Amino acid sequence: MRRELVTRLFREKFGGAPELWARAPGRVDLMGSHTDYNLGFVLTLPISRETWVAARARDDGQVRMFAANLDSEDCFDLTSIQRRACWGDYVRGVAWALAAEGLPLRGFDAVIHSTVPTGSGLSSSAALECSIAVVFRALGGWEMGGARMARLCLRAENEFIGLNCGILDQFSSCLGRAGCALLLDCRDLSTRAVHVAEAIRVVICDTKSPRELAGGEYGVRRAQCEEGAAILGVAALRDATAAELEARAAELPPEVLKRCRFIIGENERVLAMTEALAAGDRGRVGRLCSESFAGARDLYEICSPSMIAMMDAMTRAPGSIGARQAGAGFGGCMVAFVEAGEMDAFSAAVSERYRMSTGVQPEVYPVEPAAGAGLMDVA
Ligand code: GLA
Repeated sequence: MRRELVTRLFREKFGGAPELWARAPGRVDLMGSHTDYNLGFVLTLPISRETWVAARARDDGQVRMFAANLDSEDCFDLTSIQRRACWGDYVRGVAWALAAEGLPLRGFDAVIHSTVPTGSGLSSSAALECSIAVVFRALGGWEMGGARMARLCLRAENEFIGLNCGILDQFSSCLGRAGCALLLDCRDLSTRAVHVAEAIRVVICDTKSPRELAGGEYGVRRAQCEEGAAILGVAALRDATAAELEARAAELPPEVLKRCRFIIGENERVLAMTEALAAGDRGRVGRLCSESFAGARDLYEICSPSMIAMMDAMTRAPGSIGARQAGAGFGGCMVAFVEAGEMDAFSAAVSERYRMSTGVQPEVYPVEPAAGAGLMDVA
């Protein structure tokens, strides 16, 4: 159905049919909030919510695109890529980053359709960037591995869009493997596939509250982590232990100390969570999630009132194994680990309790692990 819709939109907007289809997944972090820019670990899950791009090459160096979800058109010329402060900048940014590497680019017509909700912490922008990079790669006829593609998409986000995020989102979207979560080491960019125990389902609980503060506060957190690392004399907080931090606690401004406590603890929790989820150790998953959320709320201070209400609903619902924040925080989506047999009861209870306490209808849905960005086989 989705394919028919995109095919029809392509015909309406550009005439004829697309010649290639690319896809890239969103992601949810299972453990490891804000550890990526501290060069630590993240346990990440590329998810079955994806951005699709149906494209056909053009010979005039123009990129013409239609975003189906936004009902919005945009276009630009590959010989003069300028920011326009709209969604199309993610596409421009990728073109800019690839061109800066000297890679030959061809123009195209494209319809973009996404099931990653925008602005809710599941990496809709990385899914767009990475699916577009796949289109440029296919039409340009050159090869590029997932890790380099992720780094170039991050460059687009950092330098063209101007958002100082870490590598997590682009890496998850490019390097996913079907059926697995990924343990990502953000220093050497190595990954390890992790199989979540079978009867445990990953469930997204969307607070449906906007993440207005996220931009500025994100940069503040990042700067505080850098300040902490500098005082401790380490290259990144990943290199400090909890004992070292506590021994020198008096040297750090109180707020910086709190941020460092969270990051160092969270980084340790990633490795513990990887073991616990693979082994199906429900008690440990639950404890680690609760510690992660408490730290995000009290030490890193990225939890909005809607997230606190959602946490309450998620932990009380039947079948709940563990629950925590996801993405940058400040609203948006959260993640729960739920007994496979209790999915319906869990969703109903979370929706009811959250609506009662906030007056907002949340969205609750399971996600499956998805493969990383690539071409789709459309026969
Ligand atoms: C956002 C950023 C990521 C990462 C997370 C928090 O999603 O884009 O790089 O820092 O927040 O873990």
